Amino acid sequence: MLRKLIKVKSPNVQHSENEIISEYSYDRNNIFLENNDEVTIIPQKTTYQFMTKKKVPKLGVMIVGIGGNNGTTLVAGCLANREGLSWRTKKGIVKAKYIGSYTQAATIHLGDGVYAAVKDLLPMVNPNDIVFTGWDINNTNLAEAMERAQVLEPDLQRQVYPIMVKMKPLPAIFDLSFIASNQNERANNILDGTIKEKVEAVRNHIKAFKEDNNLDKVIILWSGNTEQYSTYTEGIHDTADNILRAIDQASPKLSPSTLYAVAGILEGCDYINGSPQNTLMPGVIELAEQNGVYVSGDDLKTGQTRLKSVLVDFLVSIGIKPRSIVSYNHLGNNDGKNLSEPLQFRSKEISKSSVIDDVLQSNEILYDESTHIDHAVIIKYIPHVGDDKRAIDEYVSEIFLGGESIIEVYNMCQDSLLAVPVMLDLVILDELYSRITWKTKEMSAFERFHPVNSSLSLFLKAPLVPENTPVVNVLYRQRLCIENLIRVCIGLAPENFMLLDNKCHAFTYHHESSAA
Ligand SMILES: NC(=O)c1ccc[n+]([C@@H]2O[C@H](COP(=O)([O-])OP(=O)(O)OC[C@H]3O[C@@H](n4cnc5c(N)ncnc54)[C@H](O)[C@@H]3O)[C@@H](O)[C@H]2O)c1
Repeated sequence: MLRKLIKVKSPNVQHSENEIISEYSYDRNNIFLENNDEVTIIPQKTTYQFMTKKKVPKLGVMIVGIGGNNGTTLVAGCLANREGLSWRTKKGIVKAKYIGSYTQAATIHLGDGVYAAVKDLLPMVNPNDIVFTGWDINNTNLAEAMERAQVLEPDLQRQVYPIMVKMKPLPAIFDLSFIASNQNERANNILDGTIKEKVEAVRNHIKAFKEDNNLDKVIILWSGNTEQYSTYTEGIHDTADNILRAIDQASPKLSPSTLYAVAGILEGCDYINGSPQNTLMPGVIELAEQNGVYVSGDDLKTGQTRLKSVLVDFLVSIGIKPRSIVSYNHLGNNDGKNLSEPLQFRSKEISKSSVIDDVLQSNEILYDESTHIDHAVIIKYIPHVGDDKRAIDEYVSEIFLGGESIIEVYNMCQDSLLAVPVMLDLVILDELYSRITWKTKEMSAFERFHPVNSSLSLFLKAPLVPENTPVVNVLYRQRLCIENLIRVCIGLAPENFMLLDNKCHAFTYHHESSAA
């Protein structure tokens, strides 16, 4: 039973014309490790207030790599939904919907078998209203770039073509030493000048986009090719001042993605890194903090890795011991072509490999420091399969008395069609988080969250988190992190699965017409 208008009558929540203010008592356990294997736990309660601004801004999203498979599919997908399009396929008529998006197509349980769409619980941007533009090193208009991507059904392409043909990518910051050399042939839409002049040009693009479209907020989303990792260098990447100085001095150690991030942050834009490279260095994070914006990354979690972050948790949390995980992919899109060179593949390998670390560390019965688990990631570029990536995984686990359980997964991931709803969720929730502030009873004013927006990790393969805080890769915990904050902001308690109603009462659903 899906409900659209949700009213919470609770002393924990107040609505004014512009804000929702809720109060929530947060429980945390303070842990004290004593000698040997002893631990002392002191539970602590902290009362938080959350203030959510109700007014949804007019949002613009600037995509770096807008002419790529994901960029064009994102623009076409939102157009198709906004225009309410239907198109013919060999299986019949398909109507545009946001299937695959957590905010648009998932629900939250309110109680007694009643559900609400995630998007209906707090005011959120409607993806149909987002204004898009972006940069690409290739100047092809978005209609022809969509054709080149070979992702969408021809009858859908035909309908969005007239709008997309008018959209041209802005000239880009390009440095071939960061992406694969095989991308050079695409590069015909490139900014000239010094590094500083290029950053200035990107800042001017952002200003003009905001002004021309009367936007309240702009988010920058990296959907460009995967770059090789930048070598972290003291004096360049470590502080905000050093990065800005390195830009003035035209340092070759600054990747294009770093330059877009800096330009965006200086223009007051949040920055989301949809690829694996280490754009968000300490200096960039410090700059984000100084400018009051959020950054989040790294690398969209869409297909194989998303399933892995469920399967490995499922095995280890019930006491089964994965010993070997081999993940093989082949894909034939331009992303696969770029990843066919070793340094770009290495960036992807790092982000795909880290996803099981926290699960293994959570269970020392199965894994002590000396236990080795074979975890391999292989990617091959096979042009013929295009965007329809094949992901083949083998999980070999140790079970009772030396037995072995083998799970084989064959996953055909339509890469861009999985990625686009995730890109939308990232920008929609990032925008929502920028309207939520918090305080405790001791604080006089509401504050923003940490500039590293780790709450978006549900959508990211290698979540970036604030220094000295734990990384969470397990999918259901990441989802509950978002869901519970939404619940608390509207005056509901976080979800717990104790089901005391089922155990302690003779329970039947009773839906009264009003709780007044
Ligand atoms: N399921 C998925 O599709 C998925 C999942 C996780 C991560 N990603 C990452 O998302 C990114 C985009 O994927 P895609 O399939 O759209 O790739 P793509 O190669 O089709 O698109 C990337 C676009 O970026 C452009 N580009 C490269 N460098 C640029 C720069 N400096 N400035 C502006 N534009 C630049 C390219 O010309 C290209 O059009 C890749 O890095 C990929 O690894 C994709």
